Amino acid sequence: MSKIVVIGSSNTDLIAKVQEFPKAGETIKGVSYLQAMGGKGANQALAAHRLGGDVKFITSLGKDSNGINSLEYFKKEGLDTSLSYIAEGIPSGVAMIWVDKKGENSIVIIPGANDELSSGYIHEIEKEILEADLIVLQMEIPYNTVKTVCNIAYENNKRVLLNVAPAKKLDTDIIQKIDILVVNETEAETISGEIIEHIGEDGVVDKLLALGVKTVVLTLGKRGCILKNDQIYLQIPAFMVDTVDTTGAGDTFCGALAAELSKGHGWNEALKFASAAAAICVTRMGAQPSIPTETEVRIFLKNITIAH
Ligand code: RIB
Repeated sequence: MSKIVVIGSSNTDLIAKVQEFPKAGETIKGVSYLQAMGGKGANQALAAHRLGGDVKFITSLGKDSNGINSLEYFKKEGLDTSLSYIAEGIPSGVAMIWVDKKGENSIVIIPGANDELSSGYIHEIEKEILEADLIVLQMEIPYNTVKTVCNIAYENNKRVLLNVAPAKKLDTDIIQKIDILVVNETEAETISGEIIEHIGEDGVVDKLLALGVKTVVLTLGKRGCILKNDQIYLQIPAFMVDTVDTTGAGDTFCGALAAELSKGHGWNEALKFASAAAAICVTRMGAQPSIPTETEVRIFLKNITIAH
């Protein structure tokens, strides 16, 4: 099994389940409340770890109770965070999340310590990062840090999986250093500068490939996902489940994909596994509490096959 390093954010998620999102100036009564660990980086790292990957997670946390609780939680889970940065005098990241009755969410993040994960620190721990074969990144840490990691990985022939969430236009020279770009429709449109309604999903995927990415994975929510590179084109349907909360589903998908690829599985198998993991995730509340184990996903896939 090859090694994975995930570099990214950690947040404490404050989640309110509501019937409808509040309008500007409106006060509403929520249905329920949950505080849980989150952050796109942490969610992806924990997903890759729970789903059988050999994972190191590099993040930045404050010395406050949220930071201490996060580190304790990761330790209990068995996730290696020994290379993480502790930002003195800065609060750990938090996210305020509303989840409506359809399971859709609306998120505000206050990055705090996540913004302190600097290029300088990445250079300090460069040797340890390069022990990995696959480096997984998202966009909740400074963009300069993401660029530094992509450059280091490229110079040392390491594969990079970049999930461009939250959406951001990327520099062309960075796009060319990405092996696996995982994007949803909004993110794909932001990077390609094209509108899916105008040129279609395949058109946008082709545009991203033309920019120099090796493999594009376009996730389409309930409609599944598309993967394309110079050798393969795959369309994987989503598994039908009752959605409670979509928070963390994209992160679970990315972590699962990384874990399955690190075990040597091919694209088809890895995407089905990732879709199943994401499907289980949306049936429960919260990001990290909802990430399934590898056994759960294998059982889910077996039962689905039997049902067909
Ligand atoms: O992708 C879901 C995550 O986005 C949440 O856990 C929240 O912390 C934000 O980072």
